[in-house]
Amino acid sequence: MVPVATPARSVPRAADRLDGLVTAVRAAARCPGQTDRQMVDGVASALRAHLPSPEMVSGPAVSGPDKGTRLLYADPDGPFSIQALYWRPGQTTRIHDHVAWCVFGVVRGVEYEELFQLSGDGTHLIPSGASTNVVGDVSGFAPPGDIHRVRNSGTSKAISIHIYGTDLSRFGSSARRFYDLPVVR
Ligand SMILES: [Fe+2]
Repeated sequence: MVPVATPARSVPRAADRLDGLVTAVRAAARCPGQTDRQMVDGVASALRAHLPSPEMVSGPAVSGPDKGTRLLYADPDGPFSIQALYWRPGQTTRIHDHVAWCVFGVVRGVEYEELFQLSGDGTHLIPSGASTNVVGDVSGFAPPGDIHRVRNSGTSKAISIHIYGTDLSRFGSSARRFYDLPVVR
């Protein structure tokens, strides 16, 4: 019997230079029996240890209204994806949350992140925190409670690496919902 080849789904492959990061994230993300929070901590440690340089993640990006993106790697088994985000000075995301956990690190420039809580009646957002992240800073979150907005608050291009607990080669985006609501301080 002649085996029939099954066409492989098109999955972005990491460049060789990202293999160390991919291997470390795979080990952290595939650890069985852990909570999402534990997974975020493990993946954050992996990203800190293998944070790429800006040159390692340069290349063609998909331009959007708030930032450019480039999918660097999608795990063949689907539990995580690695994406580079490119920001011009002043570019800002809409306020949003995510379908899955996320770990991110800044490799160039400076990013300002604002956190929000949805009011009990769902009519407005309440600021709940903010942080300025510079090169080398790595942090993460696991939904729920991850409503946020990110802005390039510097005067030059910014680049950050985001690792999401979802298969972006299939779903395209990690955003769960956008919040076009007033912010009440
Ligand atoms: Fe986000």
